Amino acid sequence: MKIIDRISSIYREKFGRSPAHIARAPGRVNLLGEHVDYNNGYVLPAAIDRATYVAFSPINARHSTLIAADFNQQASFSAETVPSKTQPDESLLPEWAHYPASVVWSLMEENLPILSMNAVFASNIPQGSGLSSSASIEMAFMIAWQTIGSWSLTPMQRALLGQKAENNYVGVNCGIMDQFASACGVENKLLLLDCRSLEWKTIPLPEDVSIVIADTTIHRKLTSGAYNDRRSDCDDAVRLLQQDLPNIKSLRDVSVEEFNQLAKKIPGKIERRARHVVEEIERSNQAEALLEAGDVKSFGKLMNECHMSLRDLYEVSIPELDTMVDLAQSLDGCYGARLTGAGFGGCTVNLVAKENVEDFAQTLSMGYEVETGLHPEIYISHASNGAELIKR
Ligand code: GLA
Repeated sequence: MKIIDRISSIYREKFGRSPAHIARAPGRVNLLGEHVDYNNGYVLPAAIDRATYVAFSPINARHSTLIAADFNQQASFSAETVPSKTQPDESLLPEWAHYPASVVWSLMEENLPILSMNAVFASNIPQGSGLSSSASIEMAFMIAWQTIGSWSLTPMQRALLGQKAENNYVGVNCGIMDQFASACGVENKLLLLDCRSLEWKTIPLPEDVSIVIADTTIHRKLTSGAYNDRRSDCDDAVRLLQQDLPNIKSLRDVSVEEFNQLAKKIPGKIERRARHVVEEIERSNQAEALLEAGDVKSFGKLMNECHMSLRDLYEVSIPELDTMVDLAQSLDGCYGARLTGAGFGGCTVNLVAKENVEDFAQTLSMGYEVETGLHPEIYISHASNGAELIKR
C-alpha cells in the first residue's frame, strides 16, 4: 500500500474520519561539503525522493495526539508538557516523539500560537541511514503546524527553527544542512548553500549522470556523542588557531596554506579533524565551477578525496562504508563515491554515468553481499522539491 494511503487509513481507523491535510518533507543526500556546515562552509545537498508524510487535522483539544505508523505507537503532548518531554499522564515522551515535540518547542520560543492536532505519520527514509530522516520529520511537522496555525514562515526560517529544535531540544548539535535541504529542495537540482551567509542557489546536475544511493544497512544513532565530539574538536581547533590568526571566527576563515603552516602547533586528533574541514571547504569551493563546466570527472575525484578524508582524518567511516565505496570506485561509469551525511553507518552517494547505472547497481549489490554477507539497498535517486502540503 502506498504510504499516503497507509497513513490515511490508520488515521481513519484511529480518529474516525479522514485527515484534513497531508504534508510531506523529503530526506537529503549530500554530494560534497561534509561536516563543514557547522564550520560555516559550503554544502551541496539535494532533497531526495524519499520523505516523511504526515496526515493531520486541527482539533479543539488541549493535547495533540500523534501516531508513528512505523513504530505502531502513539504519544500525546501539549504546550505545557513539551518542555519536560512528558505526556499528559506524566509518562515520558517516547524518543520518536521528541522530533515533532521539538518543533512545537521551537515555535513556542518564537511566541507563535500552537493549535492541537491529531496526526499519523510515516517515512520511507530508512532511519539512521545518513539521509536525514529526523530533519524530514521536523520539516513535515513544521508544515503541519503552519497549516493549522495563523502564521507563515519562509522555508529557510522553518529550517533554522528546525535546527534550533534539534540543537536545544533533541540534543544533537547539528548544522543547518539537513533542515535546509528538506525545506528548500528543488526538483532535479542540486542546492549550493553558503552556511555562513545562508545564501543559496540551485545547480543543475549534468544530464548524463545519476545519483545512486547505496545503503550499507548498518544504521547509527546520531544522538550518540561522536557527532557532538567532532563539533567540539572543531571549536577547539579554532581557539588554538586564533592564537596566530586572531581574526578567524571559524575554520571557514583558514586557508589550506595557513593551516599547513600552523598545523604542527595543534595536537594530533584536533589537527586531523581541522585538516579535514579546511580541505573539504576548499574542495566544496571548487564544486560550482566544475559542475557548471560539466567536468563531472574532476568533481567525482573530489568526492573520492572527501571519502578518504572522512575515513582517515575525520574518522567517521566504518568498514562497511569503506567496502561499499571501494567497490563502487572500481566499477565502470562511477565518477565518484563516498559516504554521505554524518557517517558512523548509513549510506554512500555515487555519481554514475547514466548508461552504466543498471550494471553499476547490480554489481555493487552483489559485490557488497559477497564481502559482508549483508544485503544492501541500492537505488537511483531523483532530486525532489522541499517540504510542502500535498493535500488540503
Ligand atoms: C548531519 C548533520 C548535518 C551535517 C552532517 C555532516 O547530517 O545533521 O548538519 O553536519 O551530519 O555533514
